[in-house]
Order: sequence, then structure tokens, then C-alpha cells
Amino acid sequence: MKNDLKYTLITGGTSGIGYELARVFASNGHNLIVVARDEAELARTKSEISALGVDVVTITKDLFEADAASDLHAQVRDAGYDVEILVNNAGQGQYGLFKDTDIRRELAIVQLNISSLIVLTKLFLQDMLERGEGKILNLSSIAGKTPGPWQSVYHGTKAFVQSFTEALRREVKDQNITVTALLPGATDTDFFNKADMQESKMVQDKDKLSDPADVAKDGYNALMAGDDMVVSGFKNKMTVAMSGVMPDSMQAGQLDKQQEPVNQTH
Ligand SMILES: NC(=O)c1ccc[n+]([C@@H]2O[C@H](COP(=O)([O-])OP(=O)(O)OC[C@H]3O[C@@H](n4cnc5c(N)ncnc54)[C@H](OP(=O)(O)O)[C@@H]3O)[C@@H](O)[C@H]2O)c1
Repeated sequence: MKNDLKYTLITGGTSGIGYELARVFASNGHNLIVVARDEAELARTKSEISALGVDVVTITKDLFEADAASDLHAQVRDAGYDVEILVNNAGQGQYGLFKDTDIRRELAIVQLNISSLIVLTKLFLQDMLERGEGKILNLSSIAGKTPGPWQSVYHGTKAFVQSFTEALRREVKDQNITVTALLPGATDTDFFNKADMQESKMVQDKDKLSDPADVAKDGYNALMAGDDMVVSGFKNKMTVAMSGVMPDSMQAGQLDKQQEPVNQTH
């Protein structure tokens, strides 16, 4: 059955930056399709966000799974929802030296942060091209601008997202589709728990972490303005500007010091 409403689909819209994005979109009148794994969190999100006066559809999906992204697209299409905005937000990291970390976990992160993102982007982009309009927001990171010892795979996945976003944006520039990258710095969310990162020096001082609500507002504004990318926060803008002029080896040395555990060096 065809639904006449238009929707913004947000992966990982139940927590952290994705939840705050859901709030900003809903506050601006966008109906939402929110995707995550935890059904109770999806139900809580639906009840909180639909109170803002928009339609909220929830879909349970584990984007670590290889077929989940194409299944998600099929489910949305079969239900007759038009996705005018896609927000590829769900992503995870893993803290630790690469020699010690679990390769299965890292390959799952590549699946979530890269493979599921590109499958969703391709399938929803094709629908947008058919309709002649659309917008895509990809959660990149300032991590994508620097090599990151202690999170080497995560930083690599975000470098992919950044490069992919800019390239795709160029390809569709004359087709009424915009593709925008949101680059937060370290932000106060559950990301660090999921990444086993509590011991990192980087997350010791909670006051230095960005507020996910501010990050979400920056992302929403950049997307609606059709910008190519936005680095959220002044300090992070400075960090990215520096990364443009510093050699990679120097950046890796700096990140090594910032990310190492409080009580240990290697
Ligand atoms: N926090 C930071 O410092 C920071 C900085 C730069 C960029 N980012 C990026 O921002 C994005 C959001 O991160 P966050 O900090 O807001 O993290 P978060 O608070 O941990 O939220 C992650 C969201 O993604 C969902 N999710 C996680 N794994 C999933 C999976 N396998 N399948 C489907 N959904 C999944 C989670 O719900 P379920 O667990 O229920 O699935 C949750 O809704 C990520 O791409 C991250 O890389 C974060």
C-alpha cells in the first residue's frame, strides 16, 4: 500500500547523535523511519519522537549482517514509504592495538560502517534519481581525516566514508540530489562503551566531549543547505585544518598520545 507521506530514514536513530538527529528532523516536521537493533530502544524512541507531531516508523535491523541493508530497502519499498532523505548514521568503533583486537569484530565494523552504508546509499539513491530529488547525510568523523593508532580500523572506515561522500556528491551534482558529510569530533554518546574505549585518554575529560544535540543541529543545517561537509565545533574545525597541513606520520604520533590508555603505553 502506498503511503503519501515522505520520510527521512535514520540508521541508528535510537541513541547519541542519531537520536538527536531524529529529534531535529522531527522538530522540523520530517516523518521518520528509525532503524536499530534494540526493539525496546526503538519503542522508546518512537514514543518520544512521535510526541513531536510526526509519523515515526521503526524497523529492527542488525546492519552488521551482510544482507541487512538490502533487506531494509526491500522492506521500506514493499511498505510503500518514500524516503526523501537518507541518514547513514549507525556506526561503531573498536579500541585497542590492531595486533590484539578481534578481527571478527573489525570485519563486522567494516560491514556496518562501510558495506551497509554503500548498499543503502546505492539503493535509496536509485529511488531518489527516479523521483528526481533527494538528500543523503553520511556520518563521517574528524577521525576520517587522520590516521588513528588504537582505533586504526575505525579511522580507516571513516576515511572511506569521507572520500566516498565527496565523490558521490560530484557524480550526482546536476540531478537535484545532495550528499553531505557530517564530521563530529569526540562526542558524549554510548560510542565509547561499545568501542571498549573507556581507558583512552581521549575520553577521560567528559567536559571536552561535544554535545550530540549540537552535532545533530550542525548536520541538519548543512544537509538542508546542501553543503558538501560540516565539521562540528570550533576546536574540531581547527583540528581538521591542521590535519590538512601536517604529514600523516606526525598526525599518527599525535593521535597515538591522545588515544593511548591512561595507565599504559606501548
Ligand atoms: N561519539 C563520537 O565521538 C563520534 C564522533 C564522530 C563520529 N561518530 C559517528 O556517529 C555515528 C553515531 O554514533 P554515536 O556516537 O551516536 O553512537 P551510539 O550512541 O552508540 O549510537 C549508535 C546507534 O547506532 C545503532 N547501531 C549500532 N550498531 C548497529 C547495527 N549493527 N545495526 C543497526 N544499528 C546499529 C545503535 O542502536 P542499537 O545498538 O540498538 O543497534 C544506536 O542507535 C557513528 O557512525 C559514529 O561513528 C561518533
